[in-house]
Amino acid sequence: TESKKKADKKTGKTATKLNLRSSQWFSRNDIYGFIYRSWMKNRGIPHDQFDGRPVIGICNTWSELTPCNSHFRVLAEQVRQGVLEAGGFPLEFPVTSLGETLVRPTAMLLRNLASMDVEETIRANPLDGVVLLFGCDKTTPSLLMGASSVNIPTIGVSGGPMLNGKYRGTDIGSGTNTWSMSEDVRAGKMTLDEFHEAESCMHRSHGHCMVMGTASTMASMVEALGVALPGNAAYPAVDGRRNVLARESGRRIVQMVKEDLTLSKVLTREAFENAIRTNAAIGGSTNAVIHLIAIARRIGVELSIDDWDQFGRDVHTLLNLMPSGKYLMEDFCYAGGLPVVLRTLGEEGLLNKKALTVTGNSIWDNNKKAECFNRDVITEWKKPFKKNTGIAVLRGNLCPDGAIIKPSAATPKLLKHKGRAVVFENIEDFHKRIDSPKLDIDETCIMVLKNCGPKGYPGMAEVGNMPLPPKILKKGITDMIRISDARMSGTAYGTVVLHVAPEAAAGGPLALVENGDMIELDVAKRRLHLDVSEEVLAKRREKWKAPKPPLDRGYYKLYVDHVNQANDGVDFDFLVGCSGSKVPRDNH
Ligand code: FES
Ligand code: MG
Repeated sequence: TESKKKADKKTGKTATKLNLRSSQWFSRNDIYGFIYRSWMKNRGIPHDQFDGRPVIGICNTWSELTPCNSHFRVLAEQVRQGVLEAGGFPLEFPVTSLGETLVRPTAMLLRNLASMDVEETIRANPLDGVVLLFGCDKTTPSLLMGASSVNIPTIGVSGGPMLNGKYRGTDIGSGTNTWSMSEDVRAGKMTLDEFHEAESCMHRSHGHCMVMGTASTMASMVEALGVALPGNAAYPAVDGRRNVLARESGRRIVQMVKEDLTLSKVLTREAFENAIRTNAAIGGSTNAVIHLIAIARRIGVELSIDDWDQFGRDVHTLLNLMPSGKYLMEDFCYAGGLPVVLRTLGEEGLLNKKALTVTGNSIWDNNKKAECFNRDVITEWKKPFKKNTGIAVLRGNLCPDGAIIKPSAATPKLLKHKGRAVVFENIEDFHKRIDSPKLDIDETCIMVLKNCGPKGYPGMAEVGNMPLPPKILKKGITDMIRISDARMSGTAYGTVVLHVAPEAAAGGPLALVENGDMIELDVAKRRLHLDVSEEVLAKRREKWKAPKPPLDRGYYKLYVDHVNQANDGVDFDFLVGCSGSKVPRDNH
């Protein structure tokens, strides 16, 4: 801020008088100052707390409908203590909270809605800085997208993963083993009683999914972006150090306001490049592709799916974590956590070392001394868990605007394959036919699912990792190539081509695929090709009709009318960009 900079030059000390945006509310001595302060005093705030100290919002996604964030009242209390200790004025507020497990048809449908809630609440209120409480998958991008469109000093705190799932002496992971065990039930290898027992054993503490799914990936992304303090990704939710991190974030945001360390100083192009490489090194979720593009475009950084291919290309997967490997986030924490990964990337020349973080120091300074305590969990660069496994971006006549695949979660021999398409027109068609013994399919076929993209589902559901037909599972085969315009859960695995753009419901070529067409996948060449002539495709296109959206009013209508395609981050066209923190008019 202006007044601070002047004082700094003269005295070298932090100024006591700051030119804060909250002073436009709380430092007034007219009737409106009375209104702004008086109602706040109803819970016992003394008059001297309105003395121009930084006002810090604690943006809470606590909800009983979001089990992964159910401990956030405690976390917010820790942040509040930290803010008070640093001489700030904490004000906690709730925003739309999105849980993956209950929300229908998919939490992704509501991500943009939640981001609007966050953006407008921050801007409309007397906040100088904000602490964002992230947890379940969509709570991280929705909060960061909203905050990016306002751009005040911002720090993030993730809720942390659950402890390892423990079932009959083995570790089981959220989602990852849900998929495998439900296939075991379908294949007759597991009883329903065992299935219900596993259900109670998998999720046994506070926290979000403890595999390297989307929540853990996004918690790692915010740490790699420099928006959260070091250690943010891996401390389990119930580890005391998680609370310390929250407390320290509360202290730190007060200083960040004094330093005018706004979000755009942290979320730079360099920071996003670091995050993309980190995603490859951790074997992170494909959902991060969409979320990071959306966040970047809010803050004004150019980022495309091709950057994902370019920056992730030569990076090895270092983590032996589910869904690609065998360990879980708790193990990752004890092995040293994300700082070890960031240090390794730095040593290999794969980190923009100078990227500024919320600590006020560079990403390299934060992490250069990180130590690893378990090389089975975090492998060495020279002996990586998997080689060159960054997310690959495919092109071809089936996906003119791109499609993605996560090679670390795929079967290597399927990465180059030509097969006959078995087409499902939509998710209902898939459910109706997949278990039928009459389905004409074998393991060399390619399963194609249409109309599950942003407009199609709507909300781009996590259905891309279609379960295999029982007759193939019974042969002991667990993977086939699957192609769709959908997403897949970060906890899932398989040779799954996702995010085909443009999607079928928007008239993309995916809409024109028919049973029996031949499709070629060649991940090394980044190619996805439909072996059907232009003329035949043109004839099919003449007959194509866009599917009718399930609702034509309310939020569904807003969504279908304005949502961008996967390669553009699935944001609303009118939300891209940043309006800053200025409010055009007073409330009187
Ligand atoms: Fe919340 Fe997985 S369901 S993180
Ligand atoms: Mg998910």
